[in-house]
Amino acid sequence: MKSQRTLVLIKPDGVQRQLVGRVIARFEDRGLKIVGMRLTAVSRALAEHHYAVHKERPFFASLVDFITSSPVVAIVLEGPNAIPVVRSMVGATKPHESAPGTIRGDFALETAKNLIHASDAEETAAAEIQLWFGDGGLVGYERATDTWILSDEA
Ligand code: CMP
Repeated sequence: MKSQRTLVLIKPDGVQRQLVGRVIARFEDRGLKIVGMRLTAVSRALAEHHYAVHKERPFFASLVDFITSSPVVAIVLEGPNAIPVVRSMVGATKPHESAPGTIRGDFALETAKNLIHASDAEETAAAEIQLWFGDGGLVGYERATDTWILSDEA
């Protein structure tokens, strides 16, 4: 068991389709703790930085256009093995390959409109949390339910 933090973005399609509450409810229901959350417009600079790994891909420009087209909700979730737990809840990048029961498998049909982003590894999570919340905004706190969700092992 390893406590981790991970970055989730509910992308413009998720906000516009009014799915923010339903998506967040899934993470809360699982027991993950929200330690940062904000609705924000995305600058081109931030988008290009966030998607830098895809810079050479043919879809890079449309990716940046899309994520800057309308606000996103950026969230940092904390919990045991939060990075793989959240990735498994999000589902495969291509919605036709995501299993029913995952967020993309239940709410998305197109890869370019796959609703949500989640960090894929410890290094990317750290870099993405720094990129989106480097100016502050993270809050560590105890929940009354922690004792019923988390084991005592640190
Ligand atoms: P995400 O996993 O958040 O990060 C990279 C994004 O690139 C991915 O979600 C998709 O939204 C997008 N993407 C990946 N492959 C394609 C593609 N072939 N065409 C358009 N967008 C893509």
